[in-house]
Amino acid sequence: MSQLTLVTRDGRHVLPVELNQTVVALAKKNKVVWGHACQRGVCAQCRTLVVEGAEYLNEVTNEEKLRLRKAERAEGYRLGCQIQIVREGDVQLAHRPY
Ligand code: FES
Repeated sequence: MSQLTLVTRDGRHVLPVELNQTVVALAKKNKVVWGHACQRGVCAQCRTLVVEGAEYLNEVTNEEKLRLRKAERAEGYRLGCQIQIVREGDVQLAHRPY
């Protein structure tokens, strides 16, 4: 079974993968604190570094293209309210707000 590992200031949280839900929604559901406000790709409080498993995620959204610099996206930064796991596989994400 694939695992989603969320790394926060509290430590590591290992959850079962659930497809087609945002990382902010999954964190909330599993009571993991993952800062967020707008859930529309505007505030960037949910800024996330994709550590492992980018190939199992949805394509970068237009909201992420507008909000994050190209260099940040190249380093693997995305927005937790936009990321969804779309295929089974191990994914590790770290919460990295500004
Ligand atoms: S919650 Fe505001 S950009 Fe993700």
